[in-house]
Amino acid sequence: MKRETKILDIDSRDIDARLLGIAAAVITGGGVVVFPTETVYGIGADALNDEAVKKIFKAKGRPSDNPLIVHISDMEMLDKIAVDIPLEASLLAKEFWPGPLTLVLKKSPLIPKTVTAGLDTIAVRLPRDPIARALIRAAGTPVCAPSANISGRPSSTAFDHVFDDLDGKVDVIIRSCDSEIGLESTVLDLTGSKPVILRPGAVTSEQLAKSLGVEVVDDLELQENDVPRSPGMKYKHYAPRATIFLFSGEAVTVRDHILRQACKLSAKHKIGILSFKPEKAYEGYFCISLTREGDLEEASQNLFRTLRQFDREGVDVILAEAVPQTGIGVAIMNRLKRACNNKIKYL
Ligand code: TXA
Ligand code: MG
Repeated sequence: MKRETKILDIDSRDIDARLLGIAAAVITGGGVVVFPTETVYGIGADALNDEAVKKIFKAKGRPSDNPLIVHISDMEMLDKIAVDIPLEASLLAKEFWPGPLTLVLKKSPLIPKTVTAGLDTIAVRLPRDPIARALIRAAGTPVCAPSANISGRPSSTAFDHVFDDLDGKVDVIIRSCDSEIGLESTVLDLTGSKPVILRPGAVTSEQLAKSLGVEVVDDLELQENDVPRSPGMKYKHYAPRATIFLFSGEAVTVRDHILRQACKLSAKHKIGILSFKPEKAYEGYFCISLTREGDLEEASQNLFRTLRQFDREGVDVILAEAVPQTGIGVAIMNRLKRACNNKIKYL
C-alpha cells in the first residue's frame, strides 16, 4: 500500500538539527528512514524493534532469510549488540571505523532474530557519513539498514535512485549528496578460525591482512560454487533489466570483440556498452564509460548509476568490459559478475 513519504533535505556539511530530529523520531517511533552513507544509501529502522525491522523487508521485497547490517554511531553500541568480541575486531575498528567495513561477530540476545535472519551472528558497521552517524546518535539506538533499493536491483547511490525505488514505501527519505564510494561495504566474517571476506568492498583484502598480520581468505570461490557463507550472496543482485555479457582480456582484444558483438546484435536489440575507456573507443554505439582516465575509484562511484541509466534508455543487452582486479577493482568485478549471472567470457 502506498503511503506518504516525507523528503528531508539535509546538508552533510551543516546538519539541520531540527530536520535530523524529525528523522530520528521516526526511527524511535518504529518507522523507516532512508539515509545516506559513504557507500550507498541505506533503508533503516530501529534494530531493536522487531515490527519496525519487518517493514524494511516489506518495503524492499527482501527475502526474510537475508540478514541486515546493523549500523552504530560509537563503540559503546557495539558492546550492546555483539558478544565475545575478538581482538581482531577492536584492531580493525580502530583502523577502519568509521568507514566502509562491516564485521560479522557473535550476536547478543538483544537483537531480534528478524535482523539476523535467525543466525547467531550479526553484521555491524560504523559508517563515516556525518548524517548517518548523527541520525543513529540522535535516535540513540542501533539502526539496521540494507541498501535502499528494491531487492535485486542496483543499489542506490543518489537520491533519485532511492526515490524511483522507494517513494510511497517508506516514511522518510533524507536527500543528500551522491554516495562517495558508490559500492557497498566490505563484509568480513570474524566468527571462524580465519577472517573471511564475504563481500569485497573499498577496504581491500591486502589492507585487512596488513592490519591483522594474518592471511585474509576471500570467500568468492565458495560463492561461485553456490555455497554462500553470506546468505545475501545466493541471490541475483545488482541487476538492471538488460542482460549483461562481461568480457575480460587484453584491452584491444576486448574492444574488437565487443564491437563485433554489438554489430551482430544491434539488428534485434538495443545495445549498451559499459566501458572502462573513453567513449570514443565505441563510436557509433550507445556507450557509457565508468571512467575516462582508468580511475577505479571513479568507476566504483559510477557503476550503479550507469546500470540504472541503461535501464532508463531502454537498453536490453549490455556488453561490458571487465576492469582490472586491483584495489577496489575486485569489488567492482564482484558486482559486475553477479549482475551478469557469471556470464563472463575470457578472451
Ligand atoms: O555499505 C553497506 O554495507 C550498505 C550500507 C547501507 O551500509 N548496506 C548493505 O546492506 O549493503 P545489504 O543488506 O544490501 O547487504 C548486506 C550483506 C548481505 O549480503 C547479507 O547477506 C550480509 O551482508 N550479512 C548480513 N548479516 C550477516 C551475517 N550475520 N552473516 C553473514 N552475512 C551477513
Ligand atoms: Mg543490497
